[in-house]
Amino acid sequence: MISLWDYPDFDAHESVSFFRDEAAGLTAIIAVHSTHLGPAAGGTRLWHYADKGDAVTDALRLSRGMSFKNAMAGLPLGGGKSVILADPGVDKTPALLAAFGRAVDSLGGRYITAEDVGMTDQDMLAIRQETRHVSGLPVGEAAAGGNPGPLTALGVYLGIKEAIARALGKSSAAGVHVAIQGVGSVGGGVARLLAADGARLTLADVDQARAGALARELGADLAAADDILGIEADVLSPCALGAILDEAGIDRLQVPIVAGAANNQLKTPADGDRLTARGILYAPDYVINAGGIINVALEYLGQGDRAEVEARIAQIPERLEAIWAEASQTREAASAVADRMAMRLIGRG
Ligand code: NAI
Repeated sequence: MISLWDYPDFDAHESVSFFRDEAAGLTAIIAVHSTHLGPAAGGTRLWHYADKGDAVTDALRLSRGMSFKNAMAGLPLGGGKSVILADPGVDKTPALLAAFGRAVDSLGGRYITAEDVGMTDQDMLAIRQETRHVSGLPVGEAAAGGNPGPLTALGVYLGIKEAIARALGKSSAAGVHVAIQGVGSVGGGVARLLAADGARLTLADVDQARAGALARELGADLAAADDILGIEADVLSPCALGAILDEAGIDRLQVPIVAGAANNQLKTPADGDRLTARGILYAPDYVINAGGIINVALEYLGQGDRAEVEARIAQIPERLEAIWAEASQTREAASAVADRMAMRLIGRG
């Protein structure tokens, strides 16, 4: 049997806790990667894992990613993540959410949870009955918090404009051709913001009706989901799935810029080098997509309203600039430079 320490994704995590509440039907893992900068923050993913080892890998990998994301967003928070192992076809129950809330509470504030795949703001309200270490609750309009999608979209939009300025020397997105993969909560928001600037858009989504409706609304072109990676454009904005930038995917690219919201876009660190070798400017995903975590973090910390969230998101372009400047000096991949900066910030550099 493989021990926790032998998992390839184990990276000196401070703690990994396993929870089981038979009566409530809860099986969960909470991984705390680092509390160097503050309590470990990161959402809860509810997922059916065919192999329990995959759940451990997910918790280890995602919690480390949150350490990097929170550090690079300038937040006083460490990195953590939890996974709830769901049985196929079995729904969340109030008892399960309550048991999970008690699990979070048992860590005494070293871990703060929020939504991720499979969880909603209403679930966070249920968890709130058992612990105060939860964010991403429903909020009023001018407050920090609530649905992070539009704020993630704002950060991605600002990051794309910065990339356009750096790689194409253009001060506006007007007339710039952006191909967007996935037009859900974030990709749809990015498309609307770019369309308002007069960008030329090509949209793709496996949900063709969704892509079609948005294309009609914005006067955009449509591409098949299988084709979007190879579209000739100025920018590819991946806003759907992770791991799309592998050797074959990168070979297909016909863009000078890749900048989008999807988490873990690079399949392996070597794919960052492949982008550099092809002369493609890459916006490291956890830096450009931090708008959502900035939003839920300020909600939890009680450090400001929606205007403050937007002011902090406006700093994303300068963080990208710092990464790109160092990468062009050292001739490294932007992803490698971002990882090194993040490691330094969490005291592991
Ligand atoms: P969403 O579920 O609202 O939208 C994703 C869209 O991608 C859906 O319309 C889906 O049909 C489409 N899609 C799925 N597979 C596809 C494929 N192979 N080709 C084309 N389209 C495909 O999700 P959301 O919230 O917009 O998130 C998008 C990405 O951004 C995800 O990777 C997510 O992890 C990441 N992200 C989201 C944040 C947020 O605040 N919502 C924060 C940070 C990262």
